[in-house]
Amino acid sequence: MPSDISRRIFLAGAGTLALPAFAAPPSARTTVGMIGVGARAHQVMESIKKAPGAEIVSVCDAYTGRITRAVARTDGRAKAVANYTDILGDPSIDTVFVMSPDHWHARHVIESLEAGKHVYCEKPLTYTVDEGLAIARAVGRSGKLLQVGSQGISSPAEKMAEKMIQEGRLGRITMVRANYNRNSASGAWIYPIPPDASPDTVDWKKFLGAAPKRPFDLARFFRWRCYKDYSGGIATDLFVHLCTTIHRLMGTGAPQDVMAVGDLYRWGDSRDVPDTLNAILRYREGFTVTLSSTFNNGSGGTGFEFLGTEGSLAVGARTLVFTAERKTESTKWVTDSWPDELQQAYESANAVRSPRIEPEETKLRGGDATDLHVENFFTAVRDGTPSVEDVWAGHYAAACAHMVNLSATSGRRIAWDFKAHRLMKTQRS
Ligand SMILES: NC(=O)c1ccc[n+]([C@@H]2O[C@H](COP(=O)([O-])OP(=O)(O)OC[C@H]3O[C@@H](n4cnc5c(N)ncnc54)[C@H](O)[C@@H]3O)[C@@H](O)[C@H]2O)c1
Repeated sequence: MPSDISRRIFLAGAGTLALPAFAAPPSARTTVGMIGVGARAHQVMESIKKAPGAEIVSVCDAYTGRITRAVARTDGRAKAVANYTDILGDPSIDTVFVMSPDHWHARHVIESLEAGKHVYCEKPLTYTVDEGLAIARAVGRSGKLLQVGSQGISSPAEKMAEKMIQEGRLGRITMVRANYNRNSASGAWIYPIPPDASPDTVDWKKFLGAAPKRPFDLARFFRWRCYKDYSGGIATDLFVHLCTTIHRLMGTGAPQDVMAVGDLYRWGDSRDVPDTLNAILRYREGFTVTLSSTFNNGSGGTGFEFLGTEGSLAVGARTLVFTAERKTESTKWVTDSWPDELQQAYESANAVRSPRIEPEETKLRGGDATDLHVENFFTAVRDGTPSVEDVWAGHYAAACAHMVNLSATSGRRIAWDFKAHRLMKTQRS
């Protein structure tokens, strides 16, 4: 926003935004088993610890250091088990948090549901489009709750944005822009490798699962997002968050078609996925979305812009900026070529120039998005209420990411089959 534009600041206190509360008494204990206790899982564990009645009782991982730290994070109360099947076979465990790398999600989720557990699965729900359908069938068969972990939709900022859009403040929205830009090694997923990592502490076979067999490789183990064998790169790691939010705020599912271009310009020796990705998604509800990400420049960071006929809404993690559209009809450059008296008559009857409108900025206070998202999961489990991010939300958002990757690698426009909830038959490759 230009600095010369003064902002009206509205501070929306926690009182104006009702935060989800646990309806069940805190005494209602919900036990948690965690499949994978890597970097994200440790953040989520802190949120689980804040949720009344929730108790982490069992953890497993493929690297010993993370198990040790996870047990310590529960003050020694959680049990370390050798394999995820030990969690699934334990009848005292009510819920499973799937925090493993993406290529494992479908298997961990489906087997957890089949074992009678409610499941919280980190985004992206899937590694391939059709896994989403298999998971949907497993949810249906099990009658258990599945919540996907794109926490942004539980944040006060996105809830308020959703309300503003639903109330029609933006008018008709025909374009959404969203981006995820970074310029650092850690932002490009070059994560540090613990000095004690070795074949003695890292279970390579457990990590690989159904992925192609390869020799032991610590970079692949700790930086798996950089490799197609385990991840869809920028699309499944970052665009999936953007699509989850856009679908929620726009009240839609999958796009009708997608076109994308991706390239690897700078971080080539560390990965086989693009570091720069641009995509256009067209929705049958009558709007298009542009998604953009680079790891070579941080300008703009992360955010959304919803562009409507009556106004624009920029959505950040804790800030909303609404700018009403300024109505202007400017034809003087055309009527300058008319006879003078005709021009004057036309301009005095038709020229429109409304006053300058200042952007309205709303700063949101209230809980951390992950705390709220995790809290929503336990509330739904206890009350039997719908999931805030169910299997279809997870399937459609992840499908966008897979369509983006397929378009970028094939050079084709990728279309969605709305009847089958998957890619058009000709494009399933
Ligand atoms: N919602 C968010 O904002 C957010 C942020 C970061 C990561 N994530 C997601 O969380 C998931 C984990 O990402 P991360 O950054 O924590 O990765 P990570 O590599 O730090 O953690 C994954 C862990 O899974 C373990 N693991 C691998 N195979 C396993 C198996 N078969 N059984 C048990 N454990 C196994 C690994 O040893 C590792 O510790 C990913 O799906 C990622 O997309 C979400």
